[in-house]
Amino acid sequence: MSVSTAAADQSVCSPLPVLGRDVTVPLVTGGEVTYAALDYAASAPALQRVWDDVAAYAPYYGSVHRGAGYLSQLSTDLFENARRTVAEFLDCRSDDQVVFTRSTTDSLNLLAAALPADCQVFVFETEHHASLLPWRDAHVTYLNAPRTPQQAVRTLERALAEREPHGPALVCVTGASNVTGELWPVRELAAAAHTHGARIVLDAAQLAPHHPVSVRELDVDWVAFSGHKLYAPFGSGILAGRADWLREAEPYLAGGGASRKVARRADGGVDVEWHDSAARHEAGSPNVIGAYAIASACKALTEAGFDTLVAREQHLIEKVKDGLAEVPEVRILSLFGDDAPRVGVLSFVVDGWNSSHFAAALSAEYGIGVRDGLFCAHPLVRTLLGSDPQSQGECGAPEAAPGEKSLNAIRVSFGAGTPDEHVERFVGAVRELVRDGAKWNYRTVDGRCVPAV
Ligand SMILES: Cc1ncc(COP(=O)(O)O)c(C=O)c1O
Repeated sequence: MSVSTAAADQSVCSPLPVLGRDVTVPLVTGGEVTYAALDYAASAPALQRVWDDVAAYAPYYGSVHRGAGYLSQLSTDLFENARRTVAEFLDCRSDDQVVFTRSTTDSLNLLAAALPADCQVFVFETEHHASLLPWRDAHVTYLNAPRTPQQAVRTLERALAEREPHGPALVCVTGASNVTGELWPVRELAAAAHTHGARIVLDAAQLAPHHPVSVRELDVDWVAFSGHKLYAPFGSGILAGRADWLREAEPYLAGGGASRKVARRADGGVDVEWHDSAARHEAGSPNVIGAYAIASACKALTEAGFDTLVAREQHLIEKVKDGLAEVPEVRILSLFGDDAPRVGVLSFVVDGWNSSHFAAALSAEYGIGVRDGLFCAHPLVRTLLGSDPQSQGECGAPEAAPGEKSLNAIRVSFGAGTPDEHVERFVGAVRELVRDGAKWNYRTVDGRCVPAV
């Protein structure tokens, strides 16, 4: 796939300034430390630049599209410019549409609602629930977890070859796994989809914050991502890509902004002419600040340079992998093998530890914020843990009391704002916890492991 692979020896830049970098948190054992945010895959901290841009714009905020006043016109310009910035960031085709949504989940549900009749959907069981579940009214084929990128392509090709050849079909695939961080062979999957007359949507929630995404180069039909994972936590997301299915679909939400003309009919009903543009799926007053923030993040990442950002992140990944390799009790989860290219997302289990207990100790005793659970990718995590992939589990809920064997995993994730000290502290803490055990007692409250204070 088209990801930049910066040379390992390229000089490593400083982290990009993010909010919260000086925030201190209390430790149960006494004292305070600066918080080490290592849960970027869930939500990344806001870039300082994004915050500054939003603060600078806020006094000029006004209603968009229909306001006659100066600030309304200014806000409308900024909103529409944000759309263009995102299109550039994603290297969209000239006739692609960029729709502002609330999140990746919202974007994929929008696309699911816009599928043509009788559309068949193909999705790997390894996907995040946001990619796995929105296709409820379509005929969905769930593909088994592949163990290599090549197997993923072969599995898809076989499934597409067996389908009814003439109807519409859509493949939904993630660019980078939110569990293993592994990169998926998007370009090859897109080629397979197109060879068999199917279209493809890329779930770039975990890819876009870490690597450049080129719609043209990858030759994907749509891309979805979330602002809050791209250092712009202001409640907006993106669906960008082919206009035709979106234009032909019923509006995602019906209301003002999506309608061009509404008139009473002689029979008492109402006739509606919907917009053909992205506005068709953006009914209601849009989240202008969210759109502006996403555009600001796109610019900031582009200006920082993905080659440099990737080089820095690879350096952090190596630090984590090398550090964890020295702890034999730790097993890093992987679908494609330990050396598969990945973004800064790693999940692991620790022999003899309940994952929720381990994550709670990292937080309470070291000020490190990671995540434990099944990461809204239950079938994948259960496959990787070797347990029954059919069974259910609550997102983030421990299934065993502290000290019992884990059925969940721990995920550490980082990105452009992460200083070396955070991953060094994390590796040191893992080593110490495994060697010495937790210094504090923990208990399970409402399904979560917490310090017994
Ligand atoms: C790969 C992937 N896709 C989709 C989503 C859903 O993103 P959101 O919660 O912003 O809708 C996530 C969130 O973790 C994700 O990791």
